[in-house]
Amino acid sequence: FKSVCNLTILSKMRPLVLFDFHGVPMIQRFTTNWEKIQNFQARPDDILIATYPKAGTTWVSYILDLLYFGQTSPERQTSIPLSERVPFLELTVSPTNSGVDKAENITTSPRLIKTHFPVQFVPKSFWEQNCKIIYVARNAKDNMVSFFHFDRMALTQPDPGDWSSYFKRFLEGKLLYGSWYDHVNGWWKKKQTDNKIHYMFYEDMIEDTGHEIDKLCGFLGLSLSVEEKKRISGGVQFDNMKRNNMVNYSTSQVMDFKISPFMRKGKVGDWKNHFTVAQNEEFDEDYKQTMKNSPLKFHWEV
Ligand code: A3P
Repeated sequence: FKSVCNLTILSKMRPLVLFDFHGVPMIQRFTTNWEKIQNFQARPDDILIATYPKAGTTWVSYILDLLYFGQTSPERQTSIPLSERVPFLELTVSPTNSGVDKAENITTSPRLIKTHFPVQFVPKSFWEQNCKIIYVARNAKDNMVSFFHFDRMALTQPDPGDWSSYFKRFLEGKLLYGSWYDHVNGWWKKKQTDNKIHYMFYEDMIEDTGHEIDKLCGFLGLSLSVEEKKRISGGVQFDNMKRNNMVNYSTSQVMDFKISPFMRKGKVGDWKNHFTVAQNEEFDEDYKQTMKNSPLKFHWEV
């Protein structure tokens, strides 16, 4: 009853407007602690997981957590929600409960930290400390659909409105965290001069999770036994994560699972169930124009 009341109150208190924050549409819970976030002291072995929202953050976070702690602390997997193990850097819930506070309280190494910041918002200590960063990109159409359903069910997100207005706002770069194009391109550009960034694609993980785990291990300097790799590849498959209460956000107080599950479909191509023919044409034209000078190529475009 208590959590139903919470959800009802939350749905009435949804942040209605995004505001321009250094050129990016944001909401307060990701900016109130700006100074504290920007002054965050990264440690050299911290690993930052960066994504545009809904590109596969939870999937990669769980893989990393298993790679580093799956064998040494199995109880961590059964008793601590992933969102506690991998703090969300820019999130402020209350003056004493923020991603920065959580990260600062972690005593194990490496610390795994997630962010949805565009590259220019990342606190400078991550660059100064030469931290490893994993960026995950997802094709824009599925990313948009996933974000829409998330905004419907996560009551601390801005109200998404109807699909057609959401579609337009995505193309205009007016959703939370701004333009998908700026995000994926900004991080891609940074990667060209920074060999501490490993740039991954959601679709590659769908196609061959084991191969992507191998590439991750190569980047992180880890070696896995065949059994361990098999165990991790299996544990992180969609159905297993969907059933796993420590990673499927079922412990969240702000998500309404009656509207949509967090582990929703986990597929490539769900956009086909949402885009009209006209929207698809409009999207493709816009994409062609906006990406025409971008060196970043998503392999499913080729
Ligand atoms: P869908 O809404 O398309 O299902 P994030 O973690 O960045 O919020 O991204 C969430 C998206 O990743 C959701 O997409 C979710 O289902 C998908 N996802 C999470 N774990 C996955 C897995 N193991 N396999 C495939 N997709 C996964």
